[in-house]
Amino acid sequence: MNTSVSGMNEPILKVEHLSMKFGGLVAIGDLSFEARRGEITALIGPNGAGKTTVFNCITGFYKPTEGMITLTSKDGTQYLLERLPGHDINKRAKVARTFQNIRLFSGMTVLENLLVAQHNKLMKASGFTIMGLLGIGGYKAAANESIELAKFWLDKADLTSRADDPAGSLPYGDQRRLEIARAMCTMPELLCLDEPAAGLNPRESLALNTLLNDIKDTTGTSILLIEHDMSVVMQISDHVVVLEYGRKISDGDPSFVKSDPRVIAAYLGVEDEEVEDVLVQVGDEEVIEQLDGEPDPAHGPGASSSFMAGPISDTIGHSDPDGEVMRVSPGASKAAQVDALSKRAASAPAKASKPASKSAGSARSTKASKSTTGLSISNKLSTPRGGKPDDLLLIKGIGPINKRKLNEHGIYHFDQIAAWKHADIAAVEAYLEFDGRIAREDWIGQAKQLAAKSAKPAKRGSTK
Ligand SMILES: Nc1ncnc2c1ncn2[C@@H]1O[C@H](COP(=O)(O)OP(=O)(O)OP(=O)(O)O)[C@@H](O)[C@H]1O
Ligand SMILES: [Mg+2]
Repeated sequence: MNTSVSGMNEPILKVEHLSMKFGGLVAIGDLSFEARRGEITALIGPNGAGKTTVFNCITGFYKPTEGMITLTSKDGTQYLLERLPGHDINKRAKVARTFQNIRLFSGMTVLENLLVAQHNKLMKASGFTIMGLLGIGGYKAAANESIELAKFWLDKADLTSRADDPAGSLPYGDQRRLEIARAMCTMPELLCLDEPAAGLNPRESLALNTLLNDIKDTTGTSILLIEHDMSVVMQISDHVVVLEYGRKISDGDPSFVKSDPRVIAAYLGVEDEEVEDVLVQVGDEEVIEQLDGEPDPAHGPGASSSFMAGPISDTIGHSDPDGEVMRVSPGASKAAQVDALSKRAASAPAKASKPASKSAGSARSTKASKSTTGLSISNKLSTPRGGKPDDLLLIKGIGPINKRKLNEHGIYHFDQIAAWKHADIAAVEAYLEFDGRIAREDWIGQAKQLAAKSAKPAKRGSTK
């Protein structure tokens, strides 16, 4: 055991190489991250990413298949949570949690819920004897203390006026805050909240943010928060860890994570071939820029052992609520696709021509200069006919980036694509790294139809 006092911003929780398997299903795969003392750390990710499973491992509901979870108390004592019995995780390591689906004693009053939470302390004060319960010894003092603590958290959670009402009769937002107040009555060092803002209206959401900020500022309790509502995450978190299919795909401060291409791709849930397009549509130059470079080792999965683990598609499955296991198809991870794009761009020979210093907004021009080399197409034009290019985006499979690349190589019109020969197709596929895709998506057929359509009005006009 470590006896040094750990200060603010030191890790209170260290999750190392955590894996959780359910039969053949890997819900968490080699996950490592830290939560710092005094901070709000958000754990986010799409449905089924494994967030609740991480909480269940931390709080002793599940015994992890592999990995280490270390909680360092204020006094420096370290607890290996994966080895502690569940009740000791709350009692000794001082970790409290709330649940994705509210779990209150709905028939008990609000105040009773807060007192029940303190039964450990009260039972200890009673000396586990009837004499103790009858008020001899420290029990009475402990009972008074418990009432005071309950009143304190009633006030903080803005529930004093509802103290004597059954918990089940409270509006949803009040029940959420009561759950948090109940957890705080155990005086935790780490509070784990599973989607506390789910289903709240904006007013309730604001009240929740106020309560969480209050906890952070006045109690020193560190918070680990699972949340889907990005406005809550961005407003109140100091640090965000992002999961996708049980793997960490990003880790950093909210502004970093918000613009991480892997996160954008994972959250937008785009089609396989549209990841790059989405990044352009998101329009963040810095994000697009990152496609040209290596992942930032200070933040991203490049630095994370978890991301270095085997291919996601080999290992990760999902089970639906009825328990049926569904395998994730190869390439399901949008984050992995973005990473692959990033690596590809980084290993392209043209990378050498990239300027060392990047100014804001230089991403597109950098890419433009790259793409003017190395592509030979038989029917290039120097400019679009009549100064008006066709909208190549109408061809399914061509996104904004590829449209730009084609334009840069003198392809502006449907009929040009319709007339491509084998050699042209091979050259374009090699350049865009679209192995077999042009044939699969039938760009030529689509282009022929679109060319015919756009030619029709002109023909009619000329015969009149
Ligand atoms: N006890 C269990 N037995 C079998 N599979 C489980 C069990 N608990 C979780 N899973 C599976 O593990 C995966 C991760 O689930 P988890 O509930 O941790 O996701 P989540 O990120 O919390 O999702 P959501 O945002 O929907 O709450 C899912 O595929 C889920 O079906
Ligand atoms: Mg969950």
